[in-house]
Amino acid sequence: MTPPLPPGEILILGSGVFGLSTALALTQRPAFKSSKITVVDRSIFPAPDGSSIDTSRIIRPDYASPPYAHLASTAQSLWRTPSSPFSTAYTESGLVLVANTNSSGLPYVRDSFANVKALLPNPGDVEELRGRRAIEKEVGTGGGSGDWGYVNRRSGWADAEAGMRILRGMVEETGRVTFLTRTVTSLIYSSTTSTSTSTPSTSPRVLGAKFADGTSISADLVIAALGAWTPSLIDLRGRAQATGQVLCYLPLSAREQEELNSMPVLLNMSTGMFIIPPRNRVLKVACHGYGYSNPVSISIPTPEPEASRKVSVSIPRTATDDPNLWVPEEGERECRRALREMIPALADRPFTKSKICWYTDTPDGDFLITYHPSYSGLFLATGGSGHGYKFLPVIGEKIVDTIEGNCPEEFKNKWAWREEAVENVVTEDGSRGGKPGMVLDVEMGKGSKL
Ligand SMILES: Cc1cc2nc3c(=O)[nH]c(=O)nc-3n(C[C@H](O)[C@H](O)[C@H](O)COP(=O)(O)OP(=O)(O)OC[C@H]3O[C@@H](n4cnc5c(N)ncnc54)[C@H](O)[C@@H]3O)c2cc1C
Ligand SMILES: *[C@@H]1O[C@H](CO)[C@@H](O)[C@H](O)[C@H]1NC(C)=O
Ligand SMILES: *[C@@H]1O[C@H](CO)[C@@H](O)[C@H](O)[C@H]1NC(C)=O
Repeated sequence: MTPPLPPGEILILGSGVFGLSTALALTQRPAFKSSKITVVDRSIFPAPDGSSIDTSRIIRPDYASPPYAHLASTAQSLWRTPSSPFSTAYTESGLVLVANTNSSGLPYVRDSFANVKALLPNPGDVEELRGRRAIEKEVGTGGGSGDWGYVNRRSGWADAEAGMRILRGMVEETGRVTFLTRTVTSLIYSSTTSTSTSTPSTSPRVLGAKFADGTSISADLVIAALGAWTPSLIDLRGRAQATGQVLCYLPLSAREQEELNSMPVLLNMSTGMFIIPPRNRVLKVACHGYGYSNPVSISIPTPEPEASRKVSVSIPRTATDDPNLWVPEEGERECRRALREMIPALADRPFTKSKICWYTDTPDGDFLITYHPSYSGLFLATGGSGHGYKFLPVIGEKIVDTIEGNCPEEFKNKWAWREEAVENVVTEDGSRGGKPGMVLDVEMGKGSKL
């Protein structure tokens, strides 16, 4: 529900791509020139376990869905343009997107190919790769078999942490935003219990947020951008859920780094496995899959605390919670298999570091960028579904457009609050590999570090 605009006090919870880009866009809008803007994060920037912080993220307009392909293409030009502040974090390595012709990943690659061919009409930018030979030749690592795909030479990747540091610097430079390091424990709601029977009870209003240190901040508008942690503070059951994704890292010699310098990003839509070109002698192997849920019985803070009961919600578990966390054997095995296939020379090189990174998954992979339907004064900016990073240069603008009631037409249905909650959130946007329905503790129980 739209509060009176512009709000005097705006509180942004979470300092990842969604929260920080929103802060920047607000400072650039004349309508918000008198708003006081505060950004709160539980970690000192850059959050070591934030989903927006990592060695690398793929930057691609290669989407099966035309609206995302278009928006990503706009973002991509801001990553690429040398005069853009973000360009120093970006490398245009090219992207090879493949799938087996008999796999469920194929339609995504087909549709994506059609979209990028239309977006990049220059011959040579986008080329079909028919069969194993063509794929191997394009990838140039001696690996990468598989039967069909294409290369988009105008896609690439970004040093995710570097991109976030640039964004943070831009926000700081405005001098308009107060940053606080505090852990949100709940939102503050107006009372819903009406003492007089003649007064119809109105929907609760969000008045601010409470923190673990006992302090609180009140605001006219609260923007929840807590990434994969959002569903543990606001009831998003059936609409968004945290899923853990595996990342494994291995060291390279200077010579190997040199040899792999010019490889493209390789993303296999049959398995969800991908390799981003290494930097600083570290190679990352990862999976864009259904991931693991981590169901825990918690009570989600509600407007009526006495009414809150324990429910099962998937919550992130990261190295901040457990410094010895290592990915489940299943995940490491998949990374190993992909490495063997994609860069055979490194087939047996041990992984020296691993990480579980958390997606905020929605049923269709669409972002959740909308006012909360039942609590006024609360705006949701989340639901990244494992593909939000690339939009860093543009998503804040779209979020603020939506705050102002001007959600882009082509995203109105996609980013809205779904009337119907689904039974189990499983992202089915055609891009995910692996098995759906895996549970972190179950997989952890099957074995430890190989
Ligand atoms: C392994 C992996 C690979 C990915 N690959 C790609 C890719 O190749 N390309 C792409 O475009 N996208 C990719 N993504 C998706 C992209 O990274 C995310 O969509 C995006 O970063 C999400 O940003 P966010 O702001 O929602 O969340 P985050 O960056 O996680 O921000 C949420 C913030 O909330 C803070 N927080 C949490 N709880 C609290 C609390 N109680 N109080 C205060 N603060 C709190 C956290 O510290 C964090 O900083 C990938 C994601 C992962 C995990
Ligand atoms: C697809 O074909 C490969 C061999 O090319 C085979 O190993 C795999 O089992 C097949 N998958 C399906 C789903 O048919
Ligand atoms: C993609 O994964 C499939 C299934 O494991 C495999 O057969 C194929 O060779 C892989 N392609 C590449 C390029 O790695």
